[in-house]
Amino acid sequence: MTLYGREFSLRQAVEVLPKLGTTVGRVWQRTLLDALIAPRRFGRTMPEFRRVSDSMFHPGIGDIEPAEIPGKGPIQMLSLDSGYGGMAPQDLYAVLRIIRWIKPRKIFEFGTFKGVTTSHLAINSEAEIYTLDLPRDQASDVRDYKIDDRNLLPSRDDIVETTERLGVYDHIHQLFGNSRTFDYNPYLKSMDLVIVDACHLYDYVMSDSRNAFELLGETGAILWHDFPTSLDVTKAIRSLSRRWPMLHVEGTRLALYLRGFSLHKHDGDLSKKRD
Ligand SMILES: C[S@@+](CC[C@H](N)C(=O)[O-])C[C@H]1O[C@@H](n2cnc3c(N)ncnc32)[C@H](O)[C@@H]1O
Repeated sequence: MTLYGREFSLRQAVEVLPKLGTTVGRVWQRTLLDALIAPRRFGRTMPEFRRVSDSMFHPGIGDIEPAEIPGKGPIQMLSLDSGYGGMAPQDLYAVLRIIRWIKPRKIFEFGTFKGVTTSHLAINSEAEIYTLDLPRDQASDVRDYKIDDRNLLPSRDDIVETTERLGVYDHIHQLFGNSRTFDYNPYLKSMDLVIVDACHLYDYVMSDSRNAFELLGETGAILWHDFPTSLDVTKAIRSLSRRWPMLHVEGTRLALYLRGFSLHKHDGDLSKKRD
């Protein structure tokens, strides 16, 4: 059946229809009313309606609960908060559950920012961690950036602060450069986990994702942050999901791709192969 211009299977429709009674239902009612009686307001409401709908409906992308991610043992959380631009605690927690499960030996992170996620990766794994960021004074071509993305680029002072924070871990390697032009050759096909969380513009997310798939080894995972809240990240994940199976970690802003690991019980507990 077709809903909001998209094809839904009967099962998906049964899952999403109850949700129509809540947020989207209300926004939808308002939007339809506006379309009839206030076309100018309709023009203003439509983008918000689209955004809400897009964040709720992502056909073709599966859902998993963080609790479904296997693995035992403690997860350590630091009392550090990177504020706007960083990961919310529930997102970080889900990332760390994945770390505990797949036990990566090498991690590549697109977008260091203040190094809060990087520090958490370091205290929860023995992996060699490569984290890439674009210093503001090296960002010669960011005209297409939205103001939010531009503001996140670190100044020299930010970099000094982050380097001090990360310098205490000798398995963190800070890298600098533009993710679209960076030379990934030394790292190809060697990573067990890649985290894509740099510029959120569609072309950048797609370019970082293509590189993420090249960086990934025979087994491992790729995580994208800001799905389904960022329209561009969501569009990119939808596009990637036509080729690669994608999951949304419910209650978080994370999309997940697994290679050689499975969350289906009948496939056996593949996490054991790392022990
Ligand atoms: C959302 S923040 C990353 C948050 C971080 N992963 C965390 O969890 O705390 C995005 C980061 O990507 C960096 N960035 C933006 N464009 C980039 C690019 N073209 N290449 C590399 N890094 C970029 C920004 O400087 C910023 O630090």
